[in-house]
Amino acid sequence: MSIALSIIYLITTVTFVIGLKMLGHPETAKKGNLISGTGMVLAIIGTLFLQTKDVVIDGIAQTVPLYQTVPLIIYILIIAAITLGSIIGWFLAMKVKMTKMPELVSLFNGFGGGSALLIGLIEFSKNVGIDDVNKASSSIVITILAAIIIGSITLTGSIVAWAKLNGSMNDLRLPNYNLINNILFLALVAFGAYIVVMNTDSLVLIYILLIASLIYGYLFVAPIGGADMPVVISLLNSLTGIAAAITGILYGNMVMLVGGILVGSAGLILTFAMCKAMNRSLGSVVFGAFGGGGDAAMATVGKTGGNIKKTSASDAAVMMNYSTNVVIVPGYGLAVAQAQHVIHELEELLTKKGVNVKYAIHPVAGRMPGHMNVLLAEANVSYDKLIEMDDINPQFPNTDVVLVVGANDVVNPAAHNDPSSPIYGMPILDVENAKHIIVNKRSMNPGYAGIENELFFNQKTSMLFGDAKSALTELVSELKNM
Ligand code: TAP
Repeated sequence: MSIALSIIYLITTVTFVIGLKMLGHPETAKKGNLISGTGMVLAIIGTLFLQTKDVVIDGIAQTVPLYQTVPLIIYILIIAAITLGSIIGWFLAMKVKMTKMPELVSLFNGFGGGSALLIGLIEFSKNVGIDDVNKASSSIVITILAAIIIGSITLTGSIVAWAKLNGSMNDLRLPNYNLINNILFLALVAFGAYIVVMNTDSLVLIYILLIASLIYGYLFVAPIGGADMPVVISLLNSLTGIAAAITGILYGNMVMLVGGILVGSAGLILTFAMCKAMNRSLGSVVFGAFGGGGDAAMATVGKTGGNIKKTSASDAAVMMNYSTNVVIVPGYGLAVAQAQHVIHELEELLTKKGVNVKYAIHPVAGRMPGHMNVLLAEANVSYDKLIEMDDINPQFPNTDVVLVVGANDVVNPAAHNDPSSPIYGMPILDVENAKHIIVNKRSMNPGYAGIENELFFNQKTSMLFGDAKSALTELVSELKNM
C-alpha cells in the first residue's frame, strides 16, 4: 500500500471515531455524520486511485498503481455503481419521514449484510481449495464462512424487519419456533465447521450453507413483535458492522476493519442500552414472547383500587399558569397524536408568562431510540430544554406541575413498587414526587407493557382525558385567555 493511501486510511479512521462521538448529541450529530461521510468518500477515492499492486514486467519486479492492471470497464462499472447507489440513497434519505427512519435503517443494514455475503462468495471461489499447495488456511476459510453466514442472516433478517415495520408482514410464530431456530443455528455452525475441516472447494456445500443462513435470518426475525423491532434492528445493525469487519480482515483493509468494529460495537451498546431501559434481557427479546400485553400483564388491569380525579383544560391551565416550575413528560401518545407543535406552543406560552418549563426525556419513551428527541426537534424545541431521565429525576420534588402527555409505562411507579410487575426494575421518571401531576391520555387503557398504572390513582394526579392534540390545543387557548 502506498504511503499516501496509508495516510488517507488513517485520516478516515479518525473521522469515523470523531463522527461517532459527535453523533452522541443532537446538536453535533449532523456535523458528525458529515465528517464521517467525508472520511468514507476519501477512503473510496484513495482505494480506487492510490492502491498499488506488485507485478513483474520484463522480468523486473515493480509496484504499479492498481488501476493500470485492471481493465477500464471494471473501473467504469465500479464508478457507475457508486454513482447510482449514491443517487438512490440520497433520494431515499431526503424523502423518508422521521417516523419511517427505522425502516430505512433496516434496509441499509440488509444491504450491508448482502455485500458481506457477496464478498464471502467471491473470496471462497478465489481462495479455497485451488490446489494442494495454494490451499487457503483454515483461518481464511473460517473468515469467509463467517462473512457468508452473518451477511445472509443480516440480509433476510433486515428485509423481514423492514416488511414488518411497514406493515406488509405479520408476526410468524411456528410451533416451537425457538427450538427450531436454535437447532437450525447449531446445524449452521456444525455445517460450517465441516466445510472448514474438509477444506473443500465444493460450491454446492457453500450454496447449501448460504440458503440455510438466509432461512435462519428469516426465521430469527419473523416471530418478533413489531414494537420490539427497534432492539432487533439495532442488533442487526451491529451484525452488519461485524460482517464489514470480517470483510476488512479478508482484504487486510484497516478502514473496513475499524469501520466495521465501530458499527458493530456501537450497535451492540445501543442494543444493550435499550434492553436495560426496557428492563429486558437480550435473551428475552430474542427468544421470549414479544410485545406487551401478555396475560400476566393484562391481569393487573382493573386491579388497582381507588378513584381517579378528572380535570378540565381550564383547571389545568390555571394550575400551570400559577406554577414556577413545570415539567412536560412526552410519550408515545404525543407521537400518535402528532401534537409536537402544539406542545411547543404551550411551552413557549408558559415561558412568556415566566414559568420555567422543561421536558423530561425517558430513553425508551415512544417506539424507537431517540423518538421523543426527534419528534420535539421537528417542532423546533430547543435541545437545552430536553433533560435526560437521570438529570430530571432529582428535580421532581421541586416541580409544581408535571404534565404527562401520552406517556404511561415510563412513569409507572410499579417499576419501583411491585416486584411482580413485568416492568419491575425498569428505570422510570419519578413524576410521583412532583407537587401536582396532570396526565393527558384518551382513556384508562394501558400502554405498551399492557399493565395498569397506579400513578393515575395517586391523590396528586388529575386526569385530562382526550386526544393529545385537541387537549393541548384547548389548554393553549385557555392559557391565552389568562
Ligand atoms: P406507552 O406506555 O406505550 O403509553 C402510551 C400512552 O399513550 C397509552 O397509554 C395511550 O393511552 C396514550 N395515547 C395513545 N394515543 C394517544 C393520543 N392520540 N392522545 C393522547 N394519548 C394517547 O408509551 P411510553 O410511556 O412512551 O412508553 C414506551 C413504551 O414502549 C415502553 O414500555 C417501552 O419499553 C416500549 N418500547 C419502547 C421502544 C423505544 S426504543 N422507544 C421500543 C420498543 C418498545 P390511551 O389509549 O388511553 O390514549
